[in-house]
Amino acid sequence: MGQTKHQSDLIDIVHHEHDHLGRLLEDISGTFERISSGESEVADEADVLETAADDLEVTLEEMLHHFSQEEEVLFVKLEQRFPELEDDIEELVEAHETMCDKTRWLMGKIDGPAERIAAEAETILEVLEEMKQWHHDHTEKENAVFAYALERIPEQEQQAFLEEMQRL
Ligand SMILES: [Fe+2]
Ligand SMILES: [Fe+2]
Repeated sequence: MGQTKHQSDLIDIVHHEHDHLGRLLEDISGTFERISSGESEVADEADVLETAADDLEVTLEEMLHHFSQEEEVLFVKLEQRFPELEDDIEELVEAHETMCDKTRWLMGKIDGPAERIAAEAETILEVLEEMKQWHHDHTEKENAVFAYALERIPEQEQQAFLEEMQRL
């Protein structure tokens, strides 16, 4: 009756993280949209900018952690078992690299005084919008790769992958 079938804890957690990261990116770009549109109460207040910079930093760190769990555990396991996924996984890793480059750029931008962040809010917003698009497209491809592979791996083994990922 329209309920999502429970697949495995691993896939549920990965989907949850994808949605969570998507929401964080959505929220933070909304904040930078308000800052760059010059809504005075937002743009003038240094603490708003500092909070936005902190939120952005947390979002980027969570994203990098998620990527490293995938690259160091999940992608390795899946590629060992399903050599036919090699090209797809390579493409996923390349997308991580592009997003990491954007992350480094963003982290450099927010590592400064509030006035500088405010002055560059528009450029930051543009990169955040690109990031949102990359995250969306990447997540769709990744979910398809995971669905293919995890359908073919017993839940007990997936649990072991999950535990290994969570140790990182
Ligand atoms: Fe992911
Ligand atoms: Fe990923």
